Amino acid sequence: MLNIAVCVSGGGTNLQAILDGIEQGEITNTRVAAVISNNPGAYALERAENHGIEGVCISPKQFPDRESFNRAFLEKLDSYQVDLVVLAGFLVVLPESMIQKYRNRIINIHPSLIPSFCGTGYYGLKVHEGALARGVKVTGATVHFVDEGTDTGPIILQQPVMVEQEDTPETLQRRVMEQAEWKILPRAIDLIARGKVRVEDGKVVILEQPKRRKL
Ligand code: GRF
Repeated sequence: MLNIAVCVSGGGTNLQAILDGIEQGEITNTRVAAVISNNPGAYALERAENHGIEGVCISPKQFPDRESFNRAFLEKLDSYQVDLVVLAGFLVVLPESMIQKYRNRIINIHPSLIPSFCGTGYYGLKVHEGALARGVKVTGATVHFVDEGTDTGPIILQQPVMVEQEDTPETLQRRVMEQAEWKILPRAIDLIARGKVRVEDGKVVILEQPKRRKL
């Protein structure tokens, strides 16, 4: 059984996709041990509670300095003894100590095709504003392992999404969520839960071909 913790900061639609995926059997062999948020008002915490999952709020604002937050955050995470940490719209910079301790056991969903429109300053709507400003015709989402950089770890899955002529950042964000994020994040968790994901020389090898739809 893959024990996971999901870290959130906002509405939690990706968390909901995970919870639904487990319920509907798309994500196998997985259990959400806890949902952790830095934002006490995050609707994601309500989604967790609605599913009987412990929601905990821990934020740098509750601590006198960053070091003490980093220690408390890692201690809290360790207490759940998870195999995998899933960042689903988590807007807090992770402690280096956590990235080292959970090497290749932290994954993140980013709403673009990395390496485009990612890195410092590219989060939430800003990602889609950047894509529209550049005039790209295809964007999408990426699930990747988290390393010490920002959106720089080994890529696990990507899903393209067409940009439409009349798109606004909001309409594009919604389509990327519906057509990409809510599909590849559950699929990545299921692949990891079934031992089908390996990192070799900094690249991800998936030990299972995607199910080919008959043309
Ligand atoms: C998503 O767009 C995700 O790609 C980004 O933050 C947003 C989180 O949305 N990392 P939600 O909280 O899962 O609805």
